[in-house]
Amino acid sequence: MADSNSGLKPLSDKVIMVTGASSGIGAAIATRLAKLGGKIALVGRRESELMKYVKQIKEENGIGIAVAADVTKRDEVFEMVRHTELSLGPVDILVNSAGVMYYTYMKSLHYDEWEQQIDINCKGLTTCVGAVLEGMISRKQGHIVNISSDAGKRGFPGLAVYSGTKFYVEGLSQALRHEVKEYGLRVTCIQPGDVKTNLLQHTTDLEAKKEFDGSETCKILEADDVAKAVEYAVLQPSYVGVNEIMVEPQRSPI
Ligand SMILES: NC(=O)c1ccc[n+]([C@@H]2O[C@H](COP(=O)([O-])OP(=O)(O)OC[C@H]3O[C@@H](n4cnc5c(N)ncnc54)[C@H](OP(=O)(O)O)[C@@H]3O)[C@@H](O)[C@H]2O)c1
Repeated sequence: MADSNSGLKPLSDKVIMVTGASSGIGAAIATRLAKLGGKIALVGRRESELMKYVKQIKEENGIGIAVAADVTKRDEVFEMVRHTELSLGPVDILVNSAGVMYYTYMKSLHYDEWEQQIDINCKGLTTCVGAVLEGMISRKQGHIVNISSDAGKRGFPGLAVYSGTKFYVEGLSQALRHEVKEYGLRVTCIQPGDVKTNLLQHTTDLEAKKEFDGSETCKILEADDVAKAVEYAVLQPSYVGVNEIMVEPQRSPI
């Protein structure tokens, strides 16, 4: 971390890769960490959306590049890391925010939506971790921040598969944290409750959404509320591991 007396911003020496940065929580994290001096690789499939945030970061005198990649495709993930490292340098912080969520009853048998959630939330995140892990271990520094969910701590009806994917993220993170502690690496899970983003818009099982979606019953979080939690985790000195942060609307605790 930069010395507070040096005039440098606190993340000036950090290369930060943020997946899911083309909207919502990932975009808020990318823009917030760029303001702190981080050199940001913004990852997502929609390059045009990524470019909007790259433009914003540059207008605020930050450093950001757009890296179009599908996290479910291993070759694209390896290429995204290679491209980032060539352009910005070795990845110091990986933020896994790419994800998808569908409200659906299990009895509705939405197989394609189940598979998509597992492919992106579990397999995609795992591949991204794998793609940066060797480098972080060899440099003996690195921080992996996984955007999990409060649904990774409690099974929510209507979100059985989604909750399952986030329990996976929690389990992987906990085990990985033990495996990499001797190399100086940190692993953080952020567990948001409902956040005002496009995540809900993909749901097709309207019966399940009507029954279980509580996001209109109280004031829910802004994406930047989650980004602030990430900021807190990544700014701690290296001996401090912020392992979990749950941030929920005050009116809807789990
Ligand atoms: N919103 C909430 O209430 C809430 C609560 C708890 C946790 N979360 C978690 O927060 C994370 C971000 O969600 P959000 O609310 O910000 O939703 P969002 O606005 O829909 O953003 C999802 C992001 O994931 C990216 N993405 C999806 N599939 C991808 C793929 N195959 N490859 C690469 N990128 C992919 C999307 O980009 P492209 O479409 O451009 O690829 C988009 O940038 C998710 O992991 C979600 O589970 C959200």
